[in-house]
Formats: sequence, structure tokens, C-alpha cells
Amino acid sequence: MKIIDFNRPFVTSEDKKYVDSVFKNNKYADGYFQKQCENYIKKKIKSKFVALTQNCTSALEIVMILINLKKDDEVIMPSYTFTSTANAVLLRGAKPVFADVNLDDANLDFKSVKKKINKKTKAIIVVHYGGNSCNMDKFLELKRKNNLFLIEDCAHSFGGKFKKKYLGTIGDFGTFSFHETKNLVGGQCGALSINNLKFKRRAKIILDKGTDRSLISNKKKYYSWKDIGSEFRSAELPAALVFSQLKKSDRIQNLRKKIWNFYFLGLKKINSKNFKILKFDKKNRSAYHIFALIFKNQKIRDKFILYMKKKKIFCYFHYFPLHKSSFGKKFNRTAMINTDKVYNGLVRLPFYPTMKGSDIKKVIGKVVEFNNIN
Ligand SMILES: Cc1ncc(COP(=O)(O)O)c(C=O)c1O
Repeated sequence: MKIIDFNRPFVTSEDKKYVDSVFKNNKYADGYFQKQCENYIKKKIKSKFVALTQNCTSALEIVMILINLKKDDEVIMPSYTFTSTANAVLLRGAKPVFADVNLDDANLDFKSVKKKINKKTKAIIVVHYGGNSCNMDKFLELKRKNNLFLIEDCAHSFGGKFKKKYLGTIGDFGTFSFHETKNLVGGQCGALSINNLKFKRRAKIILDKGTDRSLISNKKKYYSWKDIGSEFRSAELPAALVFSQLKKSDRIQNLRKKIWNFYFLGLKKINSKNFKILKFDKKNRSAYHIFALIFKNQKIRDKFILYMKKKKIFCYFHYFPLHKSSFGKKFNRTAMINTDKVYNGLVRLPFYPTMKGSDIKKVIGKVVEFNNIN
């Protein structure tokens, strides 16, 4: 039986040429591709400042330093996210506060966030789940009214938009992932976008181990230690791969959109009692990172995953909610009804740009088959 993988990085001989040129240039750090990626992303998403980072995790960590997050400060974020979102806050000694998500799109629930704002709240981190935008008008209003920082965790959503603006350029900061599992692949790589240029100078220092090296233009002058920081910048090998991927990012986006629509048309007509399709507002451009179903309970979701596995089709659930994890329990005291339902019900179908039509048809056929017998 033919295997249908869950994900396949879209890396080809085209990409290899860019990686090979790193060896030809014999320059592995602070180099050409790092700058090329930064310029490309900046222009593409119309950002004021972009830095290529080791990953999305480090971009989030830089942001928390930039906003001077301190002990007793609180940052609100969805419980349904990756640990990096919360760790960045904890690493500054501050407290992550988990909020619920919407049942239909798994994005942060505005009302749940509103209830959690207090005098200690310093920032809100939204995650555009699956590449689909949160309602940024509402979060911008919360930001303004309460004088908070708004951070967009765009790990899933490079190329997505809210209305006419690219995700990651609407709040104060945007953080991107080019991990192997994401739409654009750099192995492990990421980016930071900054919307307020007053943070640019300090960001450059933090990115470079706390030194002002990138700000010194006079070669005779020594750079020196100015602030805290780390080696947050990407090296040249992943940067070359990301650059190659960026060059074909519209193609990747279109292929993903086609596959998403193929699934959607094939599955919406079932009108299943067992699951709903993860929703997004068609007015906003999705980055089409995930195609997910939300089953009515965990029992049937797990039965579905097993059923598909037996047919050699690999489907996966997603985050273990942070508020339920052994570590995250320490920071949360409220129930999160929708997060629990999304965690219990959500399953991601195989989804990658080179997926063949016959494979998509097969997955749809098996979903229909499962639905008919359950
Ligand atoms: C919402 C979210 N934020 C951050 C990250 C971390 O991304 P990276 O692996 O690039 O550090 C992930 C990883 O999947 C994620 O899903």
C-alpha cells in the first residue's frame, strides 16, 4: 500500500544550488544570504525592519527583551500554542497568562483575552493558527485602550494577510518560522519583523550577542559590549535555503491554496455530523499552512487517526494545551472549554505542495469512507 506522508519539505535541486553557493563563497556567517533574505522579506511583507534569526523561538525571545519584560509582568497568549511562545516570557522572569481560543478557527478568543487584562499585563501574543489571521482590528483596539504591546506569532503564517496587510506587520512585532515543518523551509530558521523603528538599534545589538558590531561603520573603531543579547542570527547555510524558498514563495503559496481548496470542496459536501473543517475568514488571505478537521470528541478523532494510519495515510493532532501540561499548570487557574475541545477534536490531514491530485483524492475518499461507517 502506498504511503501518504503528513508533510514533505518542498526542497529540490533548485534549492541545492543556493546552498552550494555558500561553499563556493566560503563564507558561513554574517554573509550575503542573511542580508538577501532580510531585504527580500522586508520588501515582500512591507516591514520597517527585518532580521533573519535562528528560528521563531529566538525571534520571540528578542521581542521579550526589547519590551523590557520583567518579573511580575504578564503576557497573554493562547493556551493552544507551542511552548516557545510561553518560554520566551518565562525566560525574562515574567508570567505567561493563557487565554482560550475560538472553537471554529482555533485562533485566540478576543473575549477571553479581554477578561484577563489587568494592571500587570504588558503584552498580548496572538498566534495566527494554521496560517489564518486573527481578527486584528479587535486586538489592535485592546492594545490601544490598554497601552499594551501586540506581538504576532506568525510561525504558521508567512505570506498570510489581515485585510490588506501582511501578518507580522500589524502589531508591534511579528515572528516567523522557517522550520522544516513550515511552508518555507530553512531547516531551522526564522525572522523577526519590527513595526516601530525605535526598537531597531537595540534589536541589532541583542541579535549580535549584546555588541554594537553591526552598528559600527568605521572599521578602525572597536565594537564593544552594550547590552544583553545572544547569537540569535541565522547562519549562512540555512539562510541560503530560505532565500531559495523565498524566491518561490508565491508558487508554494499557490500550490498550497490549490490543495486546500481541493480538500475543502471534497469534504464540505459531506456535511458530516462527526467533524467540522477548521474555518477561516475568506476575506483575509490565508498562508494555507494546515488543513484540519475538528471532530466532535477525542474518541472519534483517535479512531479516525488510527483508521487512516491503517490505510497508510498519516494524520496528526496538534498542540497539547499549555495550561494542561505538567509545567504550564503552574500558571493557569481557569478552565478553557474551547481549547480542550480543539485539542480533543483537531486533526491535521497530509498537506504539502508536491502532493499529487490522486493522493488528495485518496485522502478525501478515506475520510468519506470513515464518515459513512461512523
Ligand atoms: C505557534 C508557534 N510559535 C513558535 C514556534 C517555534 O518555531 P521555531 O521552531 O522556528 O522556533 C512554533 C513551532 O512550531 C509554533 O507552532
